[in-house]
Amino acid sequence: MSRNKIVLAGAGQIGGTLAHLAMLHRLGDVTLLDVAANPPKGKALDLSHAAAIEGSDAVLRGTADQADIVGADVVIVTAGVPRRPGVDREALLGINLPVMESIGTAIGRYCPDAFVICITNPLDAMVWALRRFSGLPPERVVGMGGVLDSARLRSFLAEALGVSVTEVQAMTLGGHGDDMVPLVRQATVGGVALPDLVKMGWITQQAIDAIVQRTRNGGAEVVNLMGSSSAYYAPASAAIAMAMSYLGDQKRVFPASAALSGQYGVDGLHVGVPVMIGSGGIEKIIELDFDDEERRQFARSVAAVASLVEDCKRLHLGLA
Ligand code: LMR
Repeated sequence: MSRNKIVLAGAGQIGGTLAHLAMLHRLGDVTLLDVAANPPKGKALDLSHAAAIEGSDAVLRGTADQADIVGADVVIVTAGVPRRPGVDREALLGINLPVMESIGTAIGRYCPDAFVICITNPLDAMVWALRRFSGLPPERVVGMGGVLDSARLRSFLAEALGVSVTEVQAMTLGGHGDDMVPLVRQATVGGVALPDLVKMGWITQQAIDAIVQRTRNGGAEVVNLMGSSSAYYAPASAAIAMAMSYLGDQKRVFPASAALSGQYGVDGLHVGVPVMIGSGGIEKIIELDFDDEERRQFARSVAAVASLVEDCKRLHLGLA
């Protein structure tokens, strides 16, 4: 049986971290692709030496030749420009859209059977454009954003409650932007609903409201602290978990940006919703029963994504 081929399109901070995790988790052989050949080659060489220490036989390669992605089983796209302090994700659209065209076209040409995970911002519009450029079916192109936002929500809740993060289940849906929808009503700790923990006095509603706001602002908080980079450890962990679910047919459920065709009343956009990922890619989209406030927030977030997709269509007439 041949080994899986993992392509990382973009060999910056997230790409390098993805390659490290893919090697450590023994996901298969790794190809790091970037516009100039030497940086990905250097990272691949360094990681090959790390693999010798870790006892991993993964073959790691760096390249600037898109043809080298041929036959990939999984492609994780981080290519493009990250934001700096004071810049919002949406401002990256005009710079990163042509990058999606280049890599999406290459995916359609060289590895049309791959499962594709997009990390590039503004996430939901970029994953939508990537799918259009690649021509891949909707169930095989997904955006990572909700997994990251939900990890932030779970981490902040675990810290505030003083419990293991493994006991905290919580999802953030909608677009990966300021209007994302952290779902508090459905969150559970050890199977107990979060609103019940408020009634028991474990945590106050004010503390939860502050956590919701901190989750929405999570990416900017990291960017402001780092100064010259955005987050990369957590986005990489999120995408690797999704890749593992696909490669291992684990059928895990992730809040991820999926192509909707009527679910949640949305058609023709990628938006963060709970999805089950297995060897068929997105095998199921789970439709939650929102209350009025959740529905209002989700609709506002979808409207923000829709407006970014309209921007993509204006900038690239082929997408209209
Ligand atoms: C994040 O949420 O960390 C990423 O989307 C990067 C960013 O610019 O915030």
